[in-house]
Amino acid sequence: MKSFYIITFGCQMNEHDSERMSGMLQKVGYQPAATPDDAEMIILNTCSIREKAEQKFYSELGRLTNQKEENSKAKMIAVAGCIAQQEGRQILSRVPNVDLIIGPSDITRLPELVRLQKERHNPVIETSGDETYHHKLVPVSRTDSLKAWVSIMYGCNNFCSYCVVPYLRGRERSRPAENILAEIQELAAQGYKEVTLLGQNVNSYGNGTLPSCSFPELLRRINDITGIERIRFVTSHPKDLSDDLISAMRDLPKVCESLHLPLQSGSDRILSAMNRKYSISEYQEKINKLRNAIPDISLTTDIIVGFPGEGEADFQATLTMLKQTAYDGIFAFKYSRRPNTAALKLKDHLSDHIKDIRLSKVFDLQKPITLERNHRHIGAVLEVFVDGKSKRGGKLAGRTRGNKVVNFEGAESMIGRTVNVCIKTASQNSLAGILCE
Ligand code: 5AD
Ligand code: SF4
Repeated sequence: MKSFYIITFGCQMNEHDSERMSGMLQKVGYQPAATPDDAEMIILNTCSIREKAEQKFYSELGRLTNQKEENSKAKMIAVAGCIAQQEGRQILSRVPNVDLIIGPSDITRLPELVRLQKERHNPVIETSGDETYHHKLVPVSRTDSLKAWVSIMYGCNNFCSYCVVPYLRGRERSRPAENILAEIQELAAQGYKEVTLLGQNVNSYGNGTLPSCSFPELLRRINDITGIERIRFVTSHPKDLSDDLISAMRDLPKVCESLHLPLQSGSDRILSAMNRKYSISEYQEKINKLRNAIPDISLTTDIIVGFPGEGEADFQATLTMLKQTAYDGIFAFKYSRRPNTAALKLKDHLSDHIKDIRLSKVFDLQKPITLERNHRHIGAVLEVFVDGKSKRGGKLAGRTRGNKVVNFEGAESMIGRTVNVCIKTASQNSLAGILCE
């Protein structure tokens, strides 16, 4: 039996690309294997956003190719995703046992390239970046039966100076709205209740689509689809967060009150060096508008510490912004040098030691803020979409509209439904409560 196993690194976009690769392979007769050991073909879907992700991939790849040498069962090893695009053939000079290298824009050609590799018995490399392939509708084997990811655009035009994404995923291109709506209608018919729209910069969705459709307009049209109960989206770029989008979030009942709005730095000087195209006062103005329109909105952000040239005052400005904005949660990273990016050429790169200290300071500051933002829900009755069993025995788990995990006692038959839960306790990572129906 032809079988495969996919190991996914990185973002939700990659998770979803893995679902697409899985769907395509099953269509041509492959079965998903329970473990990598059982699989005839192993695909590593890779991430290149920071050096650490790359190191993780190479150590996993090394382990798998060593096993391949020891193992008599012929195995195909494929590398997909951003490192495949970035390194191409060079992967073979580091790890010769790789059979197939395929970039993120080429994955719809996976079945054809697998066949080609089997005929040739030589490594096959495809990193054309040709966008026509990526747009193709392919079968998707989804990991969840209630919540679905839907790509609405690919690539990025922003060229933030630290970021490798525009070089690897190419220029921004939006999927036609009709295409997206048809996919979501189909998901609703299959019983899906929640969709998360994916793109590097969803706020600029629709540039170049015909007939034209803006992101708020797309949200309105998805909001009209019967069966879909919740709509989420990532990621938003602050510079493209329009008043129209804020109004749509306020007015559309299915759009959840939750927004991930990467800040990156609290210093105007650093934001400018990052090529982020907004100032702190512009960012704050957008946060104020959001909170005025949607008072209980849940906000999260990304922070980079130790960007080249980041002085103590710049770093303190980031801490000040974190205190002032009081995000519900943050993702924080040490600046990592990435190939081809403009920031590589900047002066005053900081030591890893300073980056470590700054990263800990960010987490230490944020911890009590996240706790406080979770504590404020105690006593409230929140709508919880029940998506499965809790990791902690016996309970159910679900998410609030603000995307917070809630654990509570209830019957398994509630999975897939939205219920009211009275919140009793809160910790750093989740809320807990009792059913109040
Ligand atoms: N170094 C550190 N963090 C980075 N990110 C993107 N590129 C880098 C880099 N070179 C972070 C940003 C972005 C998130 C997805 O990853 O914060 O918003
Ligand atoms: Fe990278 Fe900036 Fe594009 Fe996000 S918006 S993918 S950080 S270049």
